[in-house]
Amino acid sequence: MATSRVQASMLFVCVAFLCVFENVVTAQFTRFNKLILPQGVTGPESAAFRGLTAEGPFTTVTDGRILKYQGPDIGFVDFAYTSPARTKQFCDGTTDPDKGPICGRPVALSYQPTTGLLYIADAYLGFLVVGPNGGLATQLAGGFQFLTGVDVDLLTGLVYLSDASLTYQIRNTTQPGFQPDSTARLLRYNPLTREVSVLLSGLSGGGGPAVSVDSTFVMISELYGMRVLKYWLVGARANTAQLLLNIDGNPGKIKRAERLGEFWVAVSIGQRPRRPTIIPQGLRINSNGVVLQTVPFDREFLNRTISLVQEQSGRLYSRFREVRDVAQSTHSPDDPPIDEDPSYAITGWCSSSGGDDESSSETGYVKPIVSMIRRKSIINPDALLICCQRKSVADPSLKAVPAFRGLRVEGPFTTVTDGRILKWQGPNVGFVDFAYTSPARTKQFCDGTTDPDKGPICGRPLALSFQPTTSLLYITDAYLGLLVVGPKGGLATQLAGGFKLLTGIDVNC
Ligand SMILES: *[C@@H]1O[C@H](CO)[C@@H](O)[C@H](O)[C@H]1NC(C)=O
Ligand SMILES: *[C@@H]1O[C@H](CO)[C@@H](O)[C@H](O)[C@H]1NC(C)=O
Repeated sequence: MATSRVQASMLFVCVAFLCVFENVVTAQFTRFNKLILPQGVTGPESAAFRGLTAEGPFTTVTDGRILKYQGPDIGFVDFAYTSPARTKQFCDGTTDPDKGPICGRPVALSYQPTTGLLYIADAYLGFLVVGPNGGLATQLAGGFQFLTGVDVDLLTGLVYLSDASLTYQIRNTTQPGFQPDSTARLLRYNPLTREVSVLLSGLSGGGGPAVSVDSTFVMISELYGMRVLKYWLVGARANTAQLLLNIDGNPGKIKRAERLGEFWVAVSIGQRPRRPTIIPQGLRINSNGVVLQTVPFDREFLNRTISLVQEQSGRLYSRFREVRDVAQSTHSPDDPPIDEDPSYAITGWCSSSGGDDESSSETGYVKPIVSMIRRKSIINPDALLICCQRKSVADPSLKAVPAFRGLRVEGPFTTVTDGRILKWQGPNVGFVDFAYTSPARTKQFCDGTTDPDKGPICGRPLALSFQPTTSLLYITDAYLGLLVVGPKGGLATQLAGGFKLLTGIDVNC
């Protein structure tokens, strides 16, 4: 359809196509590109991907649709919607917050790779699900005032939800005099019983639930409470919350990072209480709440709030909102309301791929930003295009997250593209073969390959986690699922399979 195709006149939605200077520890995200939404469509709120080729992103927009990105030639097309009352005529392109209850207002997405289902949190219509072909989503649970987040546990199939309040709706947050309360919750949906249970209540602006890959805890943010909590699912602290991190700013959604046991938190500094300028940033934290990396977006997106930072295939997708100050005498000038329904918004990603050649992203190391072109468009004055260049040096062998074992700190162990897990034996010996994940793997066919289509045969281990008490090395493999191998290495044993793309693991010691 015409409105879903890329046209020069369409609203620009910028994609921060951020370069990664990749080493084992830290990536810097400095390259920007843009994705273009259909004309008049605003407010991408969430991004989700599906499948091995990372279809998408899928994004939710203000007018109630869930769109799917079909690549640069096609752009975004309609994929799904949440409200049975929605008509394209009444809703498409609307930014009227009062149409939300009719048009729907999806705000968060979570994809279940084993079932192909896309779970949706809609601020008005609650918790929904839609199948691989999209269309009208089915409501699984309703009765919420303002649902904000959803994350499916890929191991158990349980779904974690967050809501912002028992009293106010999403449209109230942009009304003059808005005052947040402390009635937000963390919830869990059980697909077998179809019941929603309340895990935590009394939160001050709940959002961003992210369950750990090993299903041991859930991260939850308090937008107005300015902190991140860790809700334990197992162990001595099961069913209790722990204050993990106080943040000098307002945390939005939390998403699992691609490195094992790590998360990205979208933080807007100065959103509320309002400071003269709002600084959006992404924080990468570990499961103990230690901040490992801060990616500031203020140079490009000063004064915009950020609601999402999501990593996918080495890219960071982030989502920004414009903040419009509403001049009003009924409330403190220091604390104007935040506009949740902007006239435009910006999505971004970062990439470890240096050039435009997507296929070489496995080995592409790039140097940080070399040039920035600021593009002015009539509709969106802030469309950005930032370019950077490929760095010639490439060392794919150390791309994956290393794991260490034992008191002597053996290793590191690392996963490589050709399917092996290697062990570092010190400078004289270097890396040696330690383990592999696929019983079909032969050294002749696989060693040294960079052919992605050999992955199902050669294995593609991604993340490692040692269990120090047992010396077992847990492995997640993109094709072969969750595996474990003993201290001597060799062929790993599959513990759980059937995943489309398993990306991370962390064993709770
Ligand atoms: C939220 O906004 C709606 C529509 O304007 C209004 O009817 C309702 O009273 C508001 N609720 C609160 C808690 O402000
Ligand atoms: C950010 O917003 C504040 C308050 O509205 C304004 O004074 C300031 O000029 C803005 N800064 C930029 C760079 O737009």
